[in-house]
Formats: sequence, structure tokens, C-alpha cells
Amino acid sequence: MKFFKPAVAALALTMLLTACTVTAGDNTTIAPAVDQTTAGQATAETPEVTTLESKFDGKEYRLPAYAEALPNLKDVFADDFLIGTAVNTVQLEDGTASAEIIKKHYNIFTTENEMKPMYVNPAKGVFDFTAPDLFVKFGEENPEVKLRGHTLVWHSQAPQWWFEGSGEDGRATSDELIARMTEYINTVMGRYKGKIAYYDVVNEAFSDSGRGMREMGEGSFWPGIVGDLDGDGDEYDFMEQAFYIARAADPDAKLIINDYSLEQDPNKLNSFYEAVKSMLEQGVPIDGVGIQAHIQIGWPDVNNFKAAIEKLATLKELNPDLIIQVTELDVSMYSWNDQSKTIDMNAENETMLAERYADLFDMFREEAAKGNLEAVIMWGFNDGMTWLNDYPVTGRTNHPLLFDRDLIAKPAFWGVVDRTKIAAAVAETL
Ligand code: GLA
Repeated sequence: MKFFKPAVAALALTMLLTACTVTAGDNTTIAPAVDQTTAGQATAETPEVTTLESKFDGKEYRLPAYAEALPNLKDVFADDFLIGTAVNTVQLEDGTASAEIIKKHYNIFTTENEMKPMYVNPAKGVFDFTAPDLFVKFGEENPEVKLRGHTLVWHSQAPQWWFEGSGEDGRATSDELIARMTEYINTVMGRYKGKIAYYDVVNEAFSDSGRGMREMGEGSFWPGIVGDLDGDGDEYDFMEQAFYIARAADPDAKLIINDYSLEQDPNKLNSFYEAVKSMLEQGVPIDGVGIQAHIQIGWPDVNNFKAAIEKLATLKELNPDLIIQVTELDVSMYSWNDQSKTIDMNAENETMLAERYADLFDMFREEAAKGNLEAVIMWGFNDGMTWLNDYPVTGRTNHPLLFDRDLIAKPAFWGVVDRTKIAAAVAETL
């Protein structure tokens, strides 16, 4: 079984720097602010948004993402689910094409990197809220949108100092790690109380073996250091503590447990499910589950994804208000073992991606109609700005999202909006 291991690449990708540029027929250049994922460094120049409709004369489908003629995704799915994207704060700057696109299409946002603990709490006693404050300001200025805080407890992109201390081999003791986690959750959630609707409280805590928790061998010190605090024989205690602390810090925020491969690996899904079930039975305040969904063009089958949503939905027996969100959707054009760096986006591949997206969103609509899906958040909105251009193969050109590198709507965009338009959109694109 092969797995995406998103966390492995995340750190390297924080240094990714990509600019998307569209040149108009009249030589006007529209460049979204240089989109960089380095947290807390939103210093890019803010270019002017210019209308480029002239370049698209006669085009019905191949339109810029911000074109008025393009349906707004958030209106398309208004009766189904919230639709969102991961963002970096440079993309939120007024006057940039990115900001226009984001406001037009999405109503729920996750910070791609800038609220990860290694940036916010890089050293003992040091908190840097520069970027999270900009994110929250965007939410205040656009009160119709919802914000997701990502993430509080994770083995990756957490500061090293959290795990060091007076224990064996210089490791933190259970008390030390719990104290740091408590301070972190209280400080972040206290600062943004009432302003961030959802938090990924725990991210990627489960083993790829499909047996229980991710341990040190898979990069996580959390269960090993915190241990079995309540003596009930499981290792869920660091998660239980995190949820209790988070609930107290901001009682109105929805608290999510998030992981990857749930839609494609029944064993991992099962261990995730059993843990959430056991915690809900004990009264741990978990409001929702997040299915990351970093998937591929040919894998998994949409029916497997659907089955995972439906299995998680049975947890509503324990928490009738349980929320299910797809939290980090993207569709790689490469299979896991493929090492190639480019792929020809010919008619066949554009069509395949558009149909893949259409199938996924048809299923999402069905699940939303059953009350099983509250939000779909994509991990970015344009192909120039995706971690999949560097993972798992560095320097590759991937095409996993709905808008291309020039910020033009792809046939995949039409796939999610109205699948009957895919063929015409593909014909216009090539
Ligand atoms: C995981 C994390 C995200 C991000 C992606 C890859 O899914 O939850 O924060 O790092 O990997 O970019």
C-alpha cells in the first residue's frame, strides 16, 4: 500500500516561492502578489488588478478565475457545503488578483502554513502572530467567511523545543509537553476567541500501519512522551488533553481531528474511527473529523471515499452534531510511484481530471444532502501554487487544482460546476 505522506514535505515547502503572471494582449501584466508560503513574511508588492477580458474575447470557458462571467464556486455550492481553499496571507492583500479570486469563489479558509506552531511559537516565551493576525483581520473584514486554524497539535512543523526538556535523553517529560501544549492552545485560541470558527486541534496523529497512533518511528513524540495519563490502556491522552484545553479556551470554536489517507486506506480509517469513537464515548469534546484527501487522478475510487465519509458519519450516533469536512483536497496527475516531472495536459488528461473532479463533487453533493458533509476545502486554488510541484518529486510540474498557472479556469473547474460543459471547455483549452 502506498501513501501520501504530506507532513514529510511540508517543511521544505514553506520555502516555496511562486509567482503567477498573466500577460494581457495589451501588454498589461497582472501578477498576484508573489505568493510565498514562508510564514509571517507577507512583504510582497501589491500589484494592481487589471481586467483582462479583452484577451478572452469569444471564450466561454477559458476565463480568468476572477472573471465576472465565471460562476462563483461559493454560489454554485451554496445549498450543499462550504467551499474553501488553503491560503497564505500575501494572497489576501487587497488589490491582488489572488484576493479577488479568493473572495469571489470561497467562503472558508485555512492557513496553509502560517498558523503552524513552529512559526507561531519558535522559542520558549516567543509568539509571533504577524501572519495569523492578518488572516484573522481578513476574516473580520469579510464577516461572511469562516476561518480554520491549522493546526494546534501535530508532529510536523512543531517547534523542536517543545519536545526537549528534563526527561530521559534530554526529552521533555509528559508534564513539560502538556504544559507547552496548554500554553500554546490557550494563547492562540484566547487571542482569536470568537474569530476562528474551526481548529484542526490534532493533525495526522495516526500510524500509516493502520494500527493505532503514530509513534516516534513515524516522527511523532506525542504519544510516547505524554503517555497513558488516565491509565485506561490507550494512548489517546495527548489528544484528549488537547481537545479539553481547546474547548475551554474558546467554547464556540468547532474542534476537528484531521488526518490523511482516510479516504483510501480502510485500516487507517478504522484506527482513526475507533479512536474518535472511544474519545466521544468518554465525552471528549470533538466536534468534527477532517478528511485531508490528498488524492491522485486514478486513486482511490470515489466509492471508497464515499464509504469513508459514510463510516465516519455513523459517529453521529455518539455526537449528533458531528461535522465532517474534506479539509485539504487536491488531485495529483501522477501516481505515487511515478518519478516523472512533467505530464502532457492533452485533451485526454484534461478530460480525465475534469471528470475525476466532477465525480468527486457529485459524491460530495450526495453526502451533503444526507447531512454528511459540511465543507470542502481545497489545498490551494491554482496549479502554480501547490505543494505537489515539489512533493514527492522535487521540481515537478503538477496540475492538481481548478485554476491553472495563469489563473485561468481549467476544464476541471467546469467539471465541478457543470459536467456537461467539460468537452466544450477542453476544446477551448487546447
Ligand atoms: C498535510 C498538512 C498540511 C500541509 C500538507 C502538505 O496535509 O496537514 O498542513 O502541510 O500536508 O502541504
